[in-house]
Amino acid sequence: MTAEACGLYLDYSKNLITDDTLTLLVDLAHDRNLSQRITAMFAGAHINVSEDRPALHVALRMPAGTPLMVDGVDVVVAVHEVLDRMAGFAGQIRSGAWLGHSGQPIRNVVNIGIGGSDLGPVMAHEALRHYSHPDLTMRFVSNVDATDLVEATADLDAAETLFIVASKTFTTTETMTNAASARAWLVDALGDTAAVSRHFVAVSTATERVAAFGIDPANMFGFWDWVGGRYSMDSAIGLSTMIAVGPDHFADLLAGFHAMDEHFRTAPLHHNLPVLMGLLAVWYRNFFGAQTMGVMPYDHYLSRFPAYLQQLTMESNGKHVTLAGQRVDHDTGAVYWGEPGTNGQHSFFQLIHQGTTLIPVDLIGFARSLNPVGSHHDLLTANLFAQAQALAFGRTLDEVINAGVDPAMAPHRVMDGNRPSNVVLADALTPFQLGTLVALYEHSVFTQAAIWDIDAFDQWGVELGKALAATIANDLMATTDPDATHDSSTNALIARYRRTSPS
Ligand code: F6P
Repeated sequence: MTAEACGLYLDYSKNLITDDTLTLLVDLAHDRNLSQRITAMFAGAHINVSEDRPALHVALRMPAGTPLMVDGVDVVVAVHEVLDRMAGFAGQIRSGAWLGHSGQPIRNVVNIGIGGSDLGPVMAHEALRHYSHPDLTMRFVSNVDATDLVEATADLDAAETLFIVASKTFTTTETMTNAASARAWLVDALGDTAAVSRHFVAVSTATERVAAFGIDPANMFGFWDWVGGRYSMDSAIGLSTMIAVGPDHFADLLAGFHAMDEHFRTAPLHHNLPVLMGLLAVWYRNFFGAQTMGVMPYDHYLSRFPAYLQQLTMESNGKHVTLAGQRVDHDTGAVYWGEPGTNGQHSFFQLIHQGTTLIPVDLIGFARSLNPVGSHHDLLTANLFAQAQALAFGRTLDEVINAGVDPAMAPHRVMDGNRPSNVVLADALTPFQLGTLVALYEHSVFTQAAIWDIDAFDQWGVELGKALAATIANDLMATTDPDATHDSSTNALIARYRRTSPS
C-alpha cells in the first residue's frame, strides 16, 4: 500500500482498509465516472455548473506550445503571455530597475488580497522562503481590520514600497478598503497622487474596475474567470511569489503542478495519488462519519499549508446540493485543519491518539532539510514516523502493565491504535515539489467532489454574509439611528455598538 509519483511517496498502509476496500472504492470512482470527469476538466468543459464555466486551473501550468482551445481561444498562449509580462516585471523589481516615484528602488512588496488572493501567496511565501530574494521584504494584508494594514506598513518606507492589489473580481470589500487606505498612506507619505502609478499594480480579471481604482491597466496582470480564487496561486495571483523567488523558481513551481496534473490525468485510478487520497477521504467521511481531517506538515516552511488547504478543501466541498441541485443524501466535505509537526504533538495530538473521535491525518515530511543543523532533521522525521506508528498500533493494556505500570492506572495509558494516517514523503521542499503537493490536494478535492456529485468550484455560501454585512455597515455608519430592520438580536447588537463606538 504505497504509491509514488512526481517525487512524492505515499504510504497509505496505515489506513483502515484492505485490498478489497480499495478495489471497491475504485469501483465507486468508476461508478461516479471519475475518469470522464477528469477528461472533462482538462478539456475545458463547463464543469463549474452553477457558474456555467470551466475550472481550468490545469491550463495555468501547461507548458508553452501545448494548445488548449476554450471557446475558440488558445488559453495556454494567453497564460504564457501573462507569465512573460510577470517575469519582466518581477525581474525589474528584483534587480532594482523599477524605481519608485522618488527614484528609489523597491525593497518592500505588500500583497493586498483575501481568500484565494491571499492564502496561496502567503503559503508560498512561507514555503519558499529559502529561495527568496534576501533584500526584499514581503508582507501580506488581508483582514479588513485596519490593524493588519497598519502593522504591515508601520516600519516600511513608502518610497521603497510596492503594493500588489490582488482580487479576481476587484469588488471584494476587504481588499478594496485596504487598497484605498494603502493608497492614502502612500500619497500622504510621498505627497503626490502621481506616485500611485509607480507603487501600485493590480492582479485581476476586471480591467475596468482596476482602471476606475486608479491603477493603469498597463500595470495590471490578468487572469480569467475559469480560474477559481482558491485555485489561483499559480496564476498572476502568484505575482508576489514570482517577485520573491524569481521567474525560474516560479517556472519550477508550475512544472511541479503540471507533473502532478499529468499523473492525475493519465495514471490508472489504483495507482493515482490524488485519487487514492480522495477516495480515502471519502471512505472516512462517509463510512466512518469522520468530521475532520488533520494535515500535519513536518516542515516549518509549510506552516501555512493547512490554512491554505482549508479554503481549498472547505470552500470547494462544503456543499449541500448535487450538481443537479438536489439536496445530497450523504455527507460532503470534512473540516480540514492542522499545524506543523512537532508543535501539534504537544498540543492537540492527545485527542487524536486517545480521544473518542476518529481523525484521519496526513503527515507530510521530507528526507532532506533545507536548514541542516546537527540532528534536528532526524529528530523531526523520527517524530513523524513515530506518530504514524503510534496512531496505527497503539499500546495494549497488557503492554502497559508489563512495562510495570500500576494496573489501576494502566487504562489511562492504553492507546487503542487503528487510527488512520497517510504519510507523504518527498526528497526536499523545492518549488517543484511544492507544486506537486498543492496539485495533489487540488485533485484529491476534485476526486471527492466527483464521488459526492457536487460542484467543487462555486462558493455561493459566502454570499449571504457579504450582503448582510453591507447592510449592517450602513447601519453602523449612519449619522442618525437606523430603523430596526433586522432580527431583534442583530438590532440590539447594532444599537449597543452605536452607543459605545467612537465612529
Ligand atoms: O468570499 C469568497 C471569495 O470569493 C473567495 O472564493 C475568493 O478567493 C475571495 O473571496 C477573494 O475574492 P477576490 O479575489 O475576487 O477578491
